[in-house]
Parts: sequence; structure tokens; C-alpha cells
Amino acid sequence: MRAPLRLGVAGLGTVGAAVVRLIGQEQSSLLARTGRPIEVVAVTARSKAKKRGIDLREIRWVADPQRLAADPDIDVFVELMGGADDPAKSAVAAALAAGKSVVTANKALLARHGVRLAELAEKKGVALNFEAAVGGAIPIVKTLREGMAGNSFARIYGILNGTCNYILTRMEREKLAFAECLKDAQRLGYAEADPTFDIEGHDTAQKLAIAASLAFGTKVNPAAIYVEGISSLTPEDLEAADELGYRVKLLGVAVRTETGIEQRVHPTMVPKDSEIAQVMGVTNALSIDADGIAPITLVGPGAGGGATASAVVADIGDIARGVRTPTFGRPARELTASSKAPMQRHEGGYYIRLLARDRPGTFATISKSLANEQISLESIVQRHPGPRTHGGDDPKSPEAPAPVILITYATTEDAVRRALQAIRRTGVIVGQPQVIRIEKG
Ligand code: HSE
Repeated sequence: MRAPLRLGVAGLGTVGAAVVRLIGQEQSSLLARTGRPIEVVAVTARSKAKKRGIDLREIRWVADPQRLAADPDIDVFVELMGGADDPAKSAVAAALAAGKSVVTANKALLARHGVRLAELAEKKGVALNFEAAVGGAIPIVKTLREGMAGNSFARIYGILNGTCNYILTRMEREKLAFAECLKDAQRLGYAEADPTFDIEGHDTAQKLAIAASLAFGTKVNPAAIYVEGISSLTPEDLEAADELGYRVKLLGVAVRTETGIEQRVHPTMVPKDSEIAQVMGVTNALSIDADGIAPITLVGPGAGGGATASAVVADIGDIARGVRTPTFGRPARELTASSKAPMQRHEGGYYIRLLARDRPGTFATISKSLANEQISLESIVQRHPGPRTHGGDDPKSPEAPAPVILITYATTEDAVRRALQAIRRTGVIVGQPQVIRIEKG
């Protein structure tokens, strides 16, 4: 039998404890499938005393991650501490420099330092595996990097943040306000410590930057992504979307265009019968449009100890088998720089919700401003003013603002912005229009 693969695990929170537990449970199956025993030989964490529900008696305790990373008695450093910078960054770099393969679930670290760490891993001929960083248990990384290595990608788009999808699902189904659903997501432990990271789209952007690198060979760079979160969405938007045959999802989209790879994260209307629209609650998904084949959608649990441990252990299994793939699927020096998507040039359909004064000529004014920008309408719906949607105005007053919902055919973002400015100048609407981009499945 081949010598055991010896692991040093840094970080014993929910994920770290789940990894230690899973390796213990699946010992014989892992041996059968990889040809090597896999053993956790050393661990490090902030507190030695904390109760974790795992047996650490036979496992050596190392005082700090940096020392564990360079420990001569480990073959693989498993980084589950989190955080974009130190201690995770120095420890991972130290392990790679010492010629050890690394497995990490740390999307923030990869988003900020992934390219440099990949260069170091490749120089040393070791693996830097990170399946758990994007979409939890869903094998997104392996699918893009190995499973579809023979395909050219046109577009990838997905639901990569469970918290946002949970909030949108509850707002849609129960007609609840955003803030109430967010509180529940926090109570249930889905949201990051700082929930703005989830709801303003930054968590999705980090995951998208990694997935886009695998699909399109771009350098991982969240700064190249246009990011807009879900906090301005109202139950009325989701209700209107539903009536018009759409659902609203926070999508991360990377698409090949004539001018380069456009990467963006924003609330998106998707047709109700599309695969991505069926994904509800904390579940994650990624749809992949590749040249020459029908689209593929991967769906599954995107967060939590068990889901993350599943991906981490699969990555360890690859190392036990001797698989050493370039981190982002091709040599790091060949990755191309990506620049920020100029959203004004974005083309597609738009949902626009306006609060329009209910008086003669309002529709004519709106239509004229849209026509001036060559924007053609697929649908237009006016709702009766109601107490939920128009603030303090008296709904019986002849000019009380009423929500008007427009769905446009494909146009450009520039044209939409100019038309809305023109409409605002005429005084026929009150407040800020709500604009949601439509993505066709
Ligand atoms: N806060 C993240 C989410 C956890 O809601 O998906 C997984 O990255």
C-alpha cells in the first residue's frame, strides 16, 4: 500500500470540524477510491479548548498556522481559516514554498492573491485546489477546469450567494420586505458576519471572478466586475416580475463579447421557465453556455459545513491520486488581464418601474422619451395607486402617483439611462425609477 497522505488542517470552525469528521467517516472509501490512506496528522485553530464534536486526541496540535504550513510531517496544508490576507495568505504561501500542496475554501484569498499563489504552486509543481470556494458542494471548479476542458465557453451565469437567494425567495413567496428576510437569514446563520458583503453582491463577485478565470482564462480580479446588490428591491418588483413571467435573482454573469469578457453581478430578471429560475432558497447554481453543446446547469448546496467539507475532501482526494492541474486550468502566466465592463454599452431587455403622476399625457410623455432613444416596449402595466407603493400621497387625489411597469425589448443601458433622465426632467414621475436587467435563458 502507498504511504498515507498526511494533512495539516488550519481552522477548526464549522467547516474544519466537518472536514476532520468526513475524513474519519469515509476512511476506507477514500482509500479504495484514491489508492492511499488519508490522515489528519496535525491541526491548528484559535482555541484549543472549544468543543467541536470531533475527537482530536490522536492529532498533534500546532500553535500557529505558519508553523503548521511548513511542518515537515505534513504533505498537504488544508486552509480553512478564511480571510483575504494574513494569517491565511502567509500560511498558504509558506506551504507552497515548502513544496506542499494546498486545499482551501477561501474565496476572498483567491480573489485577492489567487494569481500570485497559482504562480508559486506551478513553480513548485504542487496543487492549489479550491473547489469549495465557489458554490460549496457543487463541482463547479472541476466542471469548468477538467470536465469541460474541450469546450469553448460563451457565457456562465449563476446564483452564487445563498443568502441573497434565500431573501429573494421569501420576498417573492411571502411578499415580505427585504429587511425582515435579511434578519431571518442572519438568524439562520446563512449570512456572512458582515451581511452587506452578501447583499451588496461582493461575495457573488469574488466567486464569479474565480469561475470566470476558469472559463475564460482571465486573471481573477473582482475589481473588473460591475457589482450591484439586492437591497433596493421591493416585494412589488418581485410581484410585477411574476405577473410578467419572470423571477428576480442575484446573478453573477461572465460573457464573451466582441470587446472582451464582460463580468457583472446584479439583480436580474430571468424567465420563470428557465432552469436558473427554479433555484430557490439557499441553493446555488451555475448555468454554462458552451459552444456546440446544449446549456448545462449545475445545482446544489452552496454553503454550510457539510457542503463545504464535501468539496474540500474531493480536492484532497485528487492530491492523493497524484493529480496536479494548473490552478486556474492553464499556466498562471498565460491568464489575461480583464477590464471593468462598460455597463453603458450593455445590451439587453430592461424592467423599469416608475412612480408616475396619474394625469393626462403621462403615458404619452414616457412613450415619447423612450421612442427618442429607439427603445421599444414589450409590455407596459399601470397599477392602481395603493398604500404600499406611493408613500404619503392620498391615493384618491387625481394626481396620486401610480406604479407603471415597463418591459423593454433589447436596447442599451445608455439609452435607458438617457430616456429615464428625460422622463424625470418632465416631472411626470416621482422618486427614483427602479431598473432591473433581463437575462434570457
Ligand atoms: N454567505 C455565503 C452565502 C456563504 O450566503 O452563500 C458561502 O460563501
